[in-house]
Amino acid sequence: MTLKRVYVWELPVRLTHWLLFFSILTLSATGYYIGHPFISVPSPAKDHFVMGTMRAVHLYAAIVFTLAVLARLYWLFAGNRYARFSEFIPLSLWRLRSLWRTFLYYSFIRHDPDDYPGHNALAALSYAGIFMIYLVMIATGLALYTVIASASSPFQVFDFLVPLFNGLQMARLIHHIGMWIVLIFVVAHIYFVFLSSIIEHIGTFDSIFSGYKFVPEKEAERS
Ligand code: HEM
Ligand code: HEM
Repeated sequence: MTLKRVYVWELPVRLTHWLLFFSILTLSATGYYIGHPFISVPSPAKDHFVMGTMRAVHLYAAIVFTLAVLARLYWLFAGNRYARFSEFIPLSLWRLRSLWRTFLYYSFIRHDPDDYPGHNALAALSYAGIFMIYLVMIATGLALYTVIASASSPFQVFDFLVPLFNGLQMARLIHHIGMWIVLIFVVAHIYFVFLSSIIEHIGTFDSIFSGYKFVPEKEAERS
């Protein structure tokens, strides 16, 4: 079988993927600490500033995270066909078929995966879900930030978000649960990336670094 090299992930897709990866690790570690301060500091605490440091790092990582999400949303409209909005919502018949085939393949019922160069339809749908969670994390994070920001801070414009989440306690709870949803996604995502890389031999793992996948010529023609 002849394989063809296809450039699937352009630089903005790869760059935002890895910026989000590192910011999510940082946000989860510092966020977990903010919710459950598990490091006890000897008294007197004047030489320590653990919670202050965690909060500052959380907010710097939140800036990276938010900018990367905005850049990726822009690329949904400006990127190549594999990065575009239409790729994430299965509306065409062949995409719906691909969704079903992938479901059967992941359930060990079907033997052959789809060799489509871009995201398979099931993965793409899960990415659409995780993009929505990213937006919820930003909105609840901004709602929580209005409490920390000074009264004259321009960030007070996001005050309107607090009643939308039914108050700060609920915003905090949603923000916290969002972290666990993202972390559960990450475990499944890494498993499926390795499954695809080991079984399909189309270069899935390497593709998020190099941008290229190797697919049978027939499938590459779809691009
Ligand atoms: C995937 C991304 C993120 C994760 C996993 C995350 C995680 C967390 C967690 C677990 C908490 C503690 C909640 C609790 O009290 O139980 C927290 C607090 C907070 N987060 Fe995030 N967060 C993320 C993104 C953001 C973003 C984008 C912003 C800002 C726009 C933000 C702003 C805040 C603020 C202001 C607090 C409260 C800090 C405080 O009380 O001092 N977070 N975050
Ligand atoms: C915080 C952790 C991670 C998150 C939230 C995450 C999320 C995502 C998302 C949303 C996409 C879709 C990319 C887009 O179109 O913009 C993606 C693709 C991808 N990710 Fe991750 N990722 C994470 C970690 C990793 C790691 C550690 C690896 C490598 C082992 C990896 C490998 C890949 C690959 C190979 C793709 C392309 C998959 C395909 O062909 O459909 N990811 N990831």
